[in-house]
Amino acid sequence: MINFEFYCPTKVFFGRGQHKRVGEIIRNYGFKKVLLHYGGGSIKKTGLYDEVVKALNDAGIDFVELGGAQPNPVLGLVKKGIEICRKENVDLVLAVGGGSAIDSGKAIAVGAANDCDPWLFFSKKKEPERALPIGTILTLSATGSETSTSAVITNEELKLKRGLNTDLNRPLFSILNPELTFTVSPYQTACGIVDIMMHTVERYITQKGEAEVTDRIAEAVLKSTIQAGRKALKNPEDYEARATLMWAGSLSHNGLTGLGRDYFMVSHQIEHEISGMFEKVAHGAGLAVVFPAWMKYAYKYNIPRFCQYAVRVWNCEMDYENPENTAIAGIEATIDFFREIGMPTTLRELDVPEDSIEEMAVKCTNYGERILPGYIEYGKKEIIEILRLCL
Ligand code: NZQ
Ligand code: ZN
Repeated sequence: MINFEFYCPTKVFFGRGQHKRVGEIIRNYGFKKVLLHYGGGSIKKTGLYDEVVKALNDAGIDFVELGGAQPNPVLGLVKKGIEICRKENVDLVLAVGGGSAIDSGKAIAVGAANDCDPWLFFSKKKEPERALPIGTILTLSATGSETSTSAVITNEELKLKRGLNTDLNRPLFSILNPELTFTVSPYQTACGIVDIMMHTVERYITQKGEAEVTDRIAEAVLKSTIQAGRKALKNPEDYEARATLMWAGSLSHNGLTGLGRDYFMVSHQIEHEISGMFEKVAHGAGLAVVFPAWMKYAYKYNIPRFCQYAVRVWNCEMDYENPENTAIAGIEATIDFFREIGMPTTLRELDVPEDSIEEMAVKCTNYGERILPGYIEYGKKEIIEILRLCL
């Protein structure tokens, strides 16, 4: 096990009806003025908006609001939110929605507390020094943003999607009521299943670090996500299945599933270029395309680890004579599952044209400034080769 630090301070309020406590929770922290931030309107359709407003009013919490965070949230709205926070003396950002509303809220919280262009933080030109606190009410199990250090924002002018990782992004509290995810569409549910699995598996199939307890936690997250995913798709109002997905999502990306190992999320980095350039691509769907290609590209560099994944997660039989067969069986099982839950596995299905591959690869190297670490080093050439396997 290699050395690690673990810090996950988000207070979680989990279970049925918990969102109705949001006013009381905020009042107990002593905040006075809230920015209520949300997405494109699902919270109005489901009635959640009215419940949140009532809870805030009942607790005497003053608030202003900003809706419109789109899937793959953009910098323009973040800047608008920052202006509102400053003008209205907001002391807490409350993001209600999926990863996009939460990430947009995180970027607003960081931007409002630092006096500079927020893109400097996302382009890694500057480190933020402070942030407004953020609370969340999660409505989609997927990104783990409700407990993670990350916020991912697209600069719509540059068509660049970039993440900011900092402890300042950890929400102060997150309210997780699985019932709020009953209305998530089958497609978004499946995207979420893939994303939860990828946060776990990208920390699992790594080169360095023996960490048996971390392996077993990761395997539990993966296996329960696969099982609950199938159930939730069959019956969207299966509370236990939705609860499993919700908690698995939070555990998958709060750092727990990678402790004691060295990892770098290569498929995530490549996917962000796809959904950054093509805003209609959902992050989870992009991952379902990139990850199988990465596996096919990389498995030869660590066959024992791919065999462990195949045997322990997918119950593949170990071929001791020819372990490569087992590694390949694990890759095939992953692809079969993605197809079973209705995910695309090729760029064509995402409507991403072949002639955009070169540009995505160049952007993924930050225009030649970085090489992604991993089993091998991934520069422009290797990223192009992986993207070509996605065709
Ligand atoms: O915008 P609204 O109207 O709310 O509709 C959303 C959106 O259309 C809808 N939705 C959400 N909850 C719903 C619902 N519809 C019905 N009922 C509900 N209860 O679902 C659609 C997708 O929502 P979105 O928030 O975009 O999805 P997701 O949670 O997958 O977030 C994706 C974003 O998070 C980033 C991704 O790159 C992408 O930009 N990520 C953030 C991470 C983080 N901060 O830690 C890590 C991830 O790896 C990821 O990169
Ligand atoms: Zn992800």
